[in-house]
Amino acid sequence: MTNAKRRRKTTAAQWVGYSALATSLFVGAIAPLAAGPREQAKRIHDRLAGVPPTETVLASMATLISANDAEGAADIALENSAFYNVTLKNMITPWTNEAQTVFAPLNDYTATVIGMVRDDVPFNQILSADILYTGAPGLGLPAYSMNNNDHYAAMEAQGVDLKDNLVATTQSALTDLPSAATAGVITTRAAAEAFFVAGTNRSMFRFTMLNHLCTDLEQIKDVTRAPDRVRQDVSRSPGGDSRLFLNACVGCHAGMDPLTQALAYYDYDETAGRILYNDVGAVDPISGGRVQGKYRINASNFEPGFITENDNWDNYWRNGPNALLGWNESLPSSGSGAKSMGNELANSEAFARCQVKKVFKNVCFRDAGNGTDRSQIDAMTASFKANNYSLKRVFAETAAYCMGD
Ligand code: HEC
Repeated sequence: MTNAKRRRKTTAAQWVGYSALATSLFVGAIAPLAAGPREQAKRIHDRLAGVPPTETVLASMATLISANDAEGAADIALENSAFYNVTLKNMITPWTNEAQTVFAPLNDYTATVIGMVRDDVPFNQILSADILYTGAPGLGLPAYSMNNNDHYAAMEAQGVDLKDNLVATTQSALTDLPSAATAGVITTRAAAEAFFVAGTNRSMFRFTMLNHLCTDLEQIKDVTRAPDRVRQDVSRSPGGDSRLFLNACVGCHAGMDPLTQALAYYDYDETAGRILYNDVGAVDPISGGRVQGKYRINASNFEPGFITENDNWDNYWRNGPNALLGWNESLPSSGSGAKSMGNELANSEAFARCQVKKVFKNVCFRDAGNGTDRSQIDAMTASFKANNYSLKRVFAETAAYCMGD
């Protein structure tokens, strides 16, 4: 929160605070004059936890607001289990399926993000870390399985308190993925089921951009990048018209294909219900090496097109108009595998800003507008990065901003 905002709040808050001192029982009666600390506290609590506060919690929060510490008040609301079981779960669930619906079961992607927020794991690790959250032992849950979602479905069916019962572990401990092949939520079972299934793995890239950089590819098309890495399946003269390739297809595929190459060793086995990864020494029947066969489908569409031989990725969008996504200059613009590619995405300015905007919409119940909202988003994005990518801080700052005057 800016100092100006704090100062402005002080006046109203103190005014109501003094009145409240005199007749605390009648605070409700003065509400029409201004949103006093109790109204503001209630709104912060409602927005963060989705449930009304107890009288004790409301009083402590109002006291902090009167003392000009709305973020401190928000921190109290963030202690409510409903923030994790309801607010976070509903915000994250749509990221985990192609339909972007909130009406999907709890899964390892959602639980892992909830756990990361609770534990203040730097959020820019979300696309690269070897991390997984499961239910605590002793709850009578089926064990975590690579092949189904039963563990998480049971947690949800039992109404397990996620704040108290999620435990941190690693994907490499509970799956057969080597640690180097883990890439945060990208390699969770739920993400694999939704985005590695069938297709060409571009879906995983598209939805990662959509959910975590808040940009669909349509918005960042750039036809000025070299098309040398566009795969064979993309026709160079769709409908017999090569201009279409140059003016449309290249816009996405020139940049997307060399980034999606990072995912070349992954697939999802629908029958087994699990993620697949071709480790060192694997011989895929189609590629003859570690590259999944799906990277070679429709190769005859354009024989001279790019043939994927490994998982080396390059970010062509660091240059040209998509430099505006704010790539981190201290990272290399290329690498091998999903982990370093996820790191490239999650350390961009667009990533940080996207997380802040998603929280803003979730807490303020509206998209951030121009003017004051815009400077608030700027300030919170800077603060998010300065506070070691703590998403909890973003929630607290946003709730204070939208608590009403
Ligand atoms: C706005 C970005 C964008 C543009 C423009 C675009 N594509 Fe794609 N393309 C994608 C994405 C994203 C996927 C992955 C779709 C999925 O699986 O969800 C894809 C997938 C494909 C595939 C693989 C389909 C499969 O079986 O999964 C082919 C082939 C393809 N595109 C060809 C083209 C051609 C030809 C053009 C131009 C006429 C074109 N694309 C233009 C983004 C784009």
